[in-house]
Order: sequence, then C-alpha cells, then structure tokens
Amino acid sequence: MNVDLRPAGPFRYGDRVQLTGPKGRLHTVTLREGGELHTHHGVLKHENLVGQPDGSVVTNSGDHEYLALRPLLRDFVMSMPRGAAIVYPKDAAQILAAADIFPGARVVEAGVGSGALSLWLLRAIGAQGALTSFERREEFAQVAEANVETYLGHAPDTWKVVVGDLVEALPDEVEPASVDRVVLDMLAPWECIDVVADALTPGGVVLCYIATATQLSRVAEYIRATGLFTEPEATETMVRGWHVEGLAVRPDHRMVAHTGFLITARRLAPGAVPPDVRRRALKKPSYADEDVEMWTPGAVGDRAITDKNLRKRVREAERAREGARQAGRGADGAEDTETDAVD
Ligand SMILES: C[S@@+](CC[C@H](N)C(=O)[O-])C[C@H]1O[C@@H](n2cnc3c(N)ncnc32)[C@H](O)[C@@H]1O
Repeated sequence: MNVDLRPAGPFRYGDRVQLTGPKGRLHTVTLREGGELHTHHGVLKHENLVGQPDGSVVTNSGDHEYLALRPLLRDFVMSMPRGAAIVYPKDAAQILAAADIFPGARVVEAGVGSGALSLWLLRAIGAQGALTSFERREEFAQVAEANVETYLGHAPDTWKVVVGDLVEALPDEVEPASVDRVVLDMLAPWECIDVVADALTPGGVVLCYIATATQLSRVAEYIRATGLFTEPEATETMVRGWHVEGLAVRPDHRMVAHTGFLITARRLAPGAVPPDVRRRALKKPSYADEDVEMWTPGAVGDRAITDKNLRKRVREAERAREGARQAGRGADGAEDTETDAVD
C-alpha cells in the first residue's frame, strides 16, 4: 500500500493547499465544495482553485493575489497541531541519514509526540516497511494519529501506534533481535537502552534525539557502559539560510540555532567485544541515581503543556482530520489553518 498519496496535477476537492497572500501571510485550506477563505482582504472561493495547476496565482474578491501550492511535508509539520515539541525538518532529514532509515526497514520510534518524525519515517520506509511508534501519553498519540491521517489522507497500514511506556511495551510488541532501527525522542532515552538492545538486530542502529548536553552525556555513557553497542557518535545539525539577491549575497540575519543533538550507535553481535570497547574496560557510567534530579523536565527546561491545552490540541487535530475526511468525500466542514510566514 502506498503510504504517501500526495496528489499531483491540478487542484481537486480534498487537497490541502497553502496560500501565500498579501504581506506573505500563509493560510492552509482543505479545498471543499462551496468552501471560501475569508480574510479582511476579501473572499477567495475554493472553486477558483479547483482545476488550476499547483503553483498558480489566484485572485480574491478584493483583487488580492494568492500563490497556491500544495504544502511540502516540511510545511505541514511546522503548521500542524502540536501536543509536544516536534522534530524540526532539518533534524528529521539528518535522522533519516544518520539512522540509515531505508525502504522496507522495521523501525521502532518513541515517543510519538505530535507525529512529525513519524511522517518522515513512514515516507522513508515506504510501502514494504513497518513503523511501530510508542507513546506513553494517550492524548499525544491521538494528536499524532490525527496529524498523520490529515497529511496522508488515510491511516497507513505500515504504521502501528502503541500507547504505553517503551520500556514495558517494547518486549511485548517485537521479537528479540528483529528491529532494524530505533529512534528515541524523549527526555530520558537511557532508561530505554536495555530493551532497545534486546529488540535490535545485530548491526541495527539506535539513534537518540536529545535537547541538552547533559542528556547527551548521560545517554552516551549509558550506551557505552552496556558493552552492547559500537562507540556512540554525536552530532548537531545547523542549517543557515542565505539571502541571495543581486550583489546582496549573505547569510540570513536570523536562524534556528539550537534544537537538539543526535547520537547514534550500532548493535554488536552477541558476545562481540570490539577492540576499543575492550580498552575502555566497560567503565561504570559516571552518573548515580542522585543525579537523576538533574534531568527532570523542569531542570532541563522542557516546558510541559497543560492538560487543558493538550485537550485543545487533540480537538484541533481531530477537527482537521475530520475536515480532511469530509473534504475527501466532497462534503462541507473542512478545518482551515492560518499561520504567519516564517523567514
Ligand atoms: C518531544 S516528544 C516527541 C516528538 C516527536 N518526535 C515529533 O516529532 O512530533 C517526546 C514524547 O516522548 C514521550 N515519551 C517520553 N518517554 C517515553 C517512554 N519511555 N515511552 C514512550 N513515550 C515516551 C512523551 O510523552 C512525549 O510525547
């Protein structure tokens, strides 16, 4: 089954379209019969977009022009409802490369959060792959499922979402040594390394995406101390935009400087002790239980979403999915979103 049914060709009812209007303001609409985009610049009828090629410019009732494009995945993830912080596109792209996500791969992901990384992983594993995503908070899983279905237009049969803590749920979901790749995006990935080591096939890759240097240090020491992985490798990814206009060619004044670090390691074959691991004599990690307080969400600056706000995000994501479903059937009621342009 196709996991990415992004339509091509002229716009049709049911398509999501990103409109860039006056002053670069972005509106994302799902085209539906009788649908209209109302702004203080006038009214744009959805029917004026239907039949136009992707990348067209259309005019609203106030004679204002709108550039219409189907959103790319990177546009969609940045504007979709969020329960938890998402993996940014720059990091998602690097995760696919560093974790070596390939078509047909059996991948485990935790936590699923808002489902941004899940969308990238689903695309990379293709129709023959299998992604199992674990999330310990039911509402986050709901937001993620709604977001994935809104984007793809269907719930992919290559994806299974398990509500539960990875440490408890993973051994029940997968056979030992059967998983090709594991991607962890959570506060305390070191707590999951033991079950991940059991699940990974020899040579398989574990990748952790973490926000702070203290977490990076702790997970690196944990991975090393197991003696079950290759020496961990850590990176961070900076993408700096450039302004290129005539002779004014320079880096942008602003950029997203820090999001997180990536650390990867590969599962060794049972009993294998590579030379560098032997030299380190499997030193104990330098962290004791008392240090755990240093990694609490508050201490590492992880902002918690309130229950009320989270319920709001669930409703928002489910309304968007319902809108996409109804628009796909040609009925009324799709949910539109509006965001400011980001440079
Ligand atoms: C930052 S969010 C993940 C964002 C996601 N990668 C995305 O791109 O949208 C971290 C998530 O991990 C979940 N989580 C933390 N520890 C977990 C565990 N041990 N098992 C399952 N989920 C966990 C949290 O509930 C939270 O939703």
